[in-house]
Amino acid sequence: MFYGIRQDFLLELADHHVNQASTLNRVQTTVTDTSKPDENVADILSRLNDRSIVLIGLMGAGKTTIGRRLAKKLNMPFADADTEIEKAAGKTVPEIFEEHGEQYFRDGERRVIDRLLQEQPRVLATGGGAYMNADTRSTIALNGISVWLKADFDLLMKRVRKRSNRPLLKSDDPEAVMQKLIEERYPVYGEANIVVESKDVPHDQIVVACMETLARHLCREEAAHA
Ligand code: S3P
Repeated sequence: MFYGIRQDFLLELADHHVNQASTLNRVQTTVTDTSKPDENVADILSRLNDRSIVLIGLMGAGKTTIGRRLAKKLNMPFADADTEIEKAAGKTVPEIFEEHGEQYFRDGERRVIDRLLQEQPRVLATGGGAYMNADTRSTIALNGISVWLKADFDLLMKRVRKRSNRPLLKSDDPEAVMQKLIEERYPVYGEANIVVESKDVPHDQIVVACMETLARHLCREEAAHA
């Protein structure tokens, strides 16, 4: 399939917003109560105030699957940053890594996410490395609510083993790579507004947990600004 190559994946630099990450307390939830999730929809939408919901977390955490379902529940548009990068570059993520290197991918990733967050409020699933970029964290904090889908090592490995489309895991020892990424990234992912445990349960339970945690976070945020 032919994709038009977008400016934001070429070397043109986009403007960046710099702001401080939210100082509100983060809200953490576990997957428990699945009652009446739809009651939260109207509250979430009204309190989002034209911001996006941005899913972050490691490869295999379920960002795309959960994000798509969450968007459907909230009747919001959904985008997957890696898919948008592939459209913008006219190449797959593995091809970009192979032909241009990781830094080129990261530069494009930053610009594409910046564009997606400026365009319109949406549910956005980001690639696992995106939130490690300080500019991207600032853009997300300014334009969205960040949700860290946190999964344990075994679940991440179980899921990523099913596909071979992740250049970082093309290693003799993908377990060691994943362990290192957990150590490096979890402290940074910890800056997210919300943490939701991504467990090995039906996806809809995780979606409900996201909605409940979002609703609580937005309610607290509103109270803090009252
Ligand atoms: C990456 C995660 C991938 C993709 C790229 C790099 C990372 O996305 O962006 O392979 O650095 O963790 P997923 O997290 O959606 O697999």
